[in-house]
Amino acid sequence: MPLDSYLSLGRSGLRVSPFCLGTMTFGEDWGWGSSVAESEAILTEYLAQGGNFIDTANIYTNGHAEKIIGDYFATRGELRDRVVLATKFFCNLHPGDPNGGGAGRKAIIRQCEESLRRLQTDYIDLYWLHNYDRTAPIEETLRAMDDLVTAGKVRYLGVSDLPAWKVAQAATLADFCHFAPFIAMQVEYSLLARTVEGELTPMAQELGIGVMPWGPLRGGKLSGKYTRDNAGQQKSDRTGSTSGLSADEYAVLDVVNQVADETGASAAAVALAWVHQCPGVSSTLIGARRLDQLQANLAALDLKLTVDQLARLDECSVPTLNFPADNNRHLAPGLAFAGATVDGVKTTAQPMIVNNTTRY
Ligand SMILES: NC(=O)c1ccc[n+]([C@@H]2O[C@H](COP(=O)([O-])OP(=O)(O)OC[C@H]3O[C@@H](n4cnc5c(N)ncnc54)[C@H](OP(=O)(O)O)[C@@H]3O)[C@@H](O)[C@H]2O)c1
Repeated sequence: MPLDSYLSLGRSGLRVSPFCLGTMTFGEDWGWGSSVAESEAILTEYLAQGGNFIDTANIYTNGHAEKIIGDYFATRGELRDRVVLATKFFCNLHPGDPNGGGAGRKAIIRQCEESLRRLQTDYIDLYWLHNYDRTAPIEETLRAMDDLVTAGKVRYLGVSDLPAWKVAQAATLADFCHFAPFIAMQVEYSLLARTVEGELTPMAQELGIGVMPWGPLRGGKLSGKYTRDNAGQQKSDRTGSTSGLSADEYAVLDVVNQVADETGASAAAVALAWVHQCPGVSSTLIGARRLDQLQANLAALDLKLTVDQLARLDECSVPTLNFPADNNRHLAPGLAFAGATVDGVKTTAQPMIVNNTTRY
């Protein structure tokens, strides 16, 4: 499946690549990201392979990531219109100003203007509410975001890192009020972080919201460079930490490495291919700090895991979920009504077991 086998994002007419280029790594302001030249090389390679979907945020390297992207497209004519450019608001770039970030009307409009300026564009294709602002009424947030769509500054809306109940409330309100809907949702999702399967991904499927996993390599832990042998020695460029993984995490890595050996693919490709085929996933956010990492990660698009390999990866990484997800996962359709009823009538319904996997 190449990068230019585009798909519709959620219930929308927006067509995007199966892998979205994450740019949290662009810029050196946080101490571990890519230089401007490396960021531009990553952009060029992604676009050359047919990619059309770029994700950033106002906060990434304190605005530098947006500026790198803005500078890149400013010198390339109409190329900006050929890509789907997504950015986020919420994080405050103006310490001390209580309206510098968050999801109130004043903050949203100002943050949008600032992102447009850094990106050097008239419009944002997909504008994300980056995180949960407990203090802003959701109807105010939704109306302000919808106003940006009406004003032509934003094309589509997305939501990231909110509790499922809040997204469901927002989606219902948007529907009743005829506001532009959230078409996509960013959540942390990988073989080492599967708790979204309890509430968030089933909700997204029900509501027609495309799931976009972030951290699909768990910040590099699933990239293959962390092994039992180098525990405590392999340093993360990102966190600077040298700590090893937990016993449970190594157990997952063992299976990832087995599957990598069987397929001839890298561990990173196996982890990316697994998350990309999870129910509800539309486009997976890939994070690369160097060009060679991007190239290695794009190879995952060609990897088709077998049913048996998927089942082993599913099994080794089964998450513990909040109530009621774990409680209900054995209540497959039909199970609750199987067996004899009180008046002695036998029912024919059977429990449904899907591929013996742990999907709910
Ligand atoms: N909505 C949100 O709250 C949110 C949060 C986080 C991220 N995001 C988005 O999601 C994107 C991806 O997230 P992420 O950066 O956390 O993804 P990730 O794939 O889990 O981690 C990326 C990191 O893994 C390492 N890596 C990547 N490919 C590798 C390879 N082939 N071999 C070895 N190491 C490799 C690099 O770290 P090293 O420095 O160790 O080389 C890289 O910085 C971000 O860019 C951003 O756009 C969104």
